[in-house]
This record gives sequence, structure tokens and C-alpha cells, in this order.
Amino acid sequence: METIKLTINQKEITANQEESILEICQNHQIAIPTLCHHPDLRNEGNCRLCVVEVDGEENLTASCNRKACDGMVIETESEKVINSRRATLELLIANHPNDCLTCDRTSGECQLQDLCYQYDISRGEQLLKTIEQKKALDLSSPSIERDLNKCIVCGKCLRVCGETQDIGIYHYQERGFDTLVSTKENQPLAETKCINCGQCVKVCPVGALVEKQEIRKVMQAIVDPEVHVVVQTAPAVKHT
Ligand code: SF4
Ligand code: FES
Repeated sequence: METIKLTINQKEITANQEESILEICQNHQIAIPTLCHHPDLRNEGNCRLCVVEVDGEENLTASCNRKACDGMVIETESEKVINSRRATLELLIANHPNDCLTCDRTSGECQLQDLCYQYDISRGEQLLKTIEQKKALDLSSPSIERDLNKCIVCGKCLRVCGETQDIGIYHYQERGFDTLVSTKENQPLAETKCINCGQCVKVCPVGALVEKQEIRKVMQAIVDPEVHVVVQTAPAVKHT
């Protein structure tokens, strides 16, 4: 495979021509934040968090979606890049429910929360007023809880379900600021051909798709036999 030479943050690096800028950075321990990228999924370039400066071009480029070329000069931490990432995070958090303390995607597991800490984003700096969202929770599935209010439209669930699992229950809907990733005609999960494989939960970077409590406890008990699982049964019906 052909190799190329490029400069990243003033350091000369040798890389494989087929690699994206993001892959090259990851291979050289240059941290780039991502929300919609997954190494096993096709890139869509939805979140714009992985932007970098290339050859002093006016527009920043999504590093996950651009192949590197010989002689490229890349900045991953310039002021322009950091300001752009901060603006993206501020927009995302402005439109996100303020329930981190009770969210089922526990602290340390939510990539959006981690990045907000890392880039020092707090609700006080929001560009927009928090938008009241009232999309109903979907609790219909035996294994997955779905909260569309928390979805950041990264599209990973759609790609893993449609392309890796070949099932395809998720679709993009609406446009622009109203874009959603939901089931066809917004049916509850239980009414789709979902097979409860849990792959969408695994790739979701936020608390929009989480395992149901009962499933989590069973999984915990499998890895840690000290954990006791109490299966709740319905109270007996009294016959009079
Ligand atoms: Fe991404 Fe999760 Fe929304 Fe799917 S539900 S688009 S994985 S944030
Ligand atoms: Fe590149 Fe989202 S990770 S655009």
C-alpha cells in the first residue's frame, strides 16, 4: 500500500494513503473528538465534532470523512477548530434534556457529557434557549428504552441496524433542525421488526437508547454472580 507524508500539528507523519485524517490521528495518539463515527460503520459526517483545519482552507473539514493526501498540513487544535467544536457542543446541549443526574446512560458512559466537560461547556453558555421537548418515551420493547428527546441524530443506530444487522428499523425523518432518527411512521419499537439484538444501544453515544433496567441487572448478574436479580412478579389477584 502506498505511503504518504503529511504534517499534523507541526509534526511530520508517515501514513497509509487509504486512511482518513481521523484514522491517521488516532493511529498517532492525536485525540480528535467524535460522536457519529464508529470504526465498524460507514462514515456520514453528521456531528461535525471531528473537524480539523487542512492546508489553511477557509472551511474546516470533517476528519472522519476526508482521506489524507501527500503533503497535507493539518491543524487539529487551532483556535478556529476549538471554537467550532465548542459551538457544535453548545448547540447540541442547548437542545438536550437537562437530566444528567437521573439519565440511564450513567456518568462516564455518555459521550456528549464527557465532551461537554472536556470542552468546558455549561448550560450557562448556551447559544440557544433550552427547547422544551416532549416526545413520548418508547417503553414498548422488552429490552430497550428509547427517548427521542435525547437523540443527537448521529445516525449510528440507523447504520448498525440497517447495514450491519440488515434489519433497518430506523430512518431519518423531517429536515434541518427538526431532523429525527426514528422508526418508520414513528411506531413503537415493539411494532417493528426489531430483534432486540441491542446493537443500537451499544453504539448510541447518549441516553437516547438504553437497556431496560431488568436486562441490565441480568447482564450484571452474568458477569458478577454476587449480584442477585430479583424478578418482580405481579401481585396475586384476590378472588372474593
Ligand atoms: Fe444516534 Fe442514539 Fe439518536 Fe440513534 S438514537 S441517532 S444512536 S443519538
Ligand atoms: Fe466526524 Fe461526526 S465524527 S462528523
